[in-house]
Amino acid sequence: MRYARIAGTGSYLPARVVTNHELAQRIDTSDEWIVTRTGIRERHIAEPEQTSSDLALEASRAALASAGIDAGAIDLIVVATSTPDFVFPSTACLLQAKLGVKGCAAFDVQAVCSGFVYGLAIADSFVRTGQAGCALVVGAEVFSRILDWKDRTTCVLFGDGAGAVVLRADARPGIRASVLHADGSQAGILAAPGNVCGGRVIGSPLVRMDGQAVFKFAVRVLDDVARETVRKCDLTVADIDWLIPHQANVRILDATAKRLGLPRERLVITVDKHANTSAASVPLALDAAVRDGRIRAGHRVMLQGVGGGFTWGAALVEM
Ligand code: UT7
Repeated sequence: MRYARIAGTGSYLPARVVTNHELAQRIDTSDEWIVTRTGIRERHIAEPEQTSSDLALEASRAALASAGIDAGAIDLIVVATSTPDFVFPSTACLLQAKLGVKGCAAFDVQAVCSGFVYGLAIADSFVRTGQAGCALVVGAEVFSRILDWKDRTTCVLFGDGAGAVVLRADARPGIRASVLHADGSQAGILAAPGNVCGGRVIGSPLVRMDGQAVFKFAVRVLDDVARETVRKCDLTVADIDWLIPHQANVRILDATAKRLGLPRERLVITVDKHANTSAASVPLALDAAVRDGRIRAGHRVMLQGVGGGFTWGAALVEM
């Protein structure tokens, strides 16, 4: 059997840190409200000239270095982003050029905060079916560009960043199973409902969210999709060593672990340090826990995305 294994992980956060206290000087909010309701303490914000492909490049270099693989060996690049550099070409193509390689397939995936899990599932299929031997999967976002900085109900929740993994074909299982879902009838509860038409912005391209509806939806589907994914592997929830849900709100993470009956010690939480970075959040958390030695070879890790669309999904990965 041919499988896709994670050979390396990497991540990158822009240098500029914006704390809750700094935000509280600009809008009607407080560190106490943000920490209690979300667990977020600070977020990183990209410089005006930094784009998603720039953040993706740093995360990709780190992932390639940890895998000990040259960029020239990659034969597929998938970038998950809702904040691409341009309408086109894709951020994946721009990343490919910045990595100094050419020829391999490169495309973007748009599934908002589920984007990394969607990208991972696609790349896994390419590797398992022999269409790729080495894939780079990246989640990269500059969400700060699509926030209404006067809307305290959304702007305090998000940040910028990127995370990446290198997948390599292997005879040992790596990605054991993945499951993807969507429900377009729920598009309205989390959206940036605008676009460019004839050179002008139409609609509102800034994030709008019904926070409570998203919260309830997220907790339910993260529970369901984790169970569906372990069932696909003939495992149970108790076989999960580490749970890495999309890092949106610590209350969603805690509620998910509780519903699954997993102790808090098996939950990886990084949302306090970078807020919700959409498609980048899962690989950012994965890389943090790999680098600090919590996640080790042989561990089973459940990666979970949930976000606009509505979209959700999970992958069970053996490291
Ligand atoms: O990738 C998926 C993306 N999104 C999410 O995962 C978000 C999911 N939802 C949530 O995380 C939570 O619903 C929020 C953190 C967004 C909000 O928490 P909540 O406990 O649902 O609060 P709420 O919306 O019920 O608001 C409670 C109060 C309101 O005031 P009133 O009406 O009770 O007087 C808000 O106006 O908190 C107020 N509020 C704020 N106060 C201070 C809302 N935002 C803020 C703020 N600072 N930033």
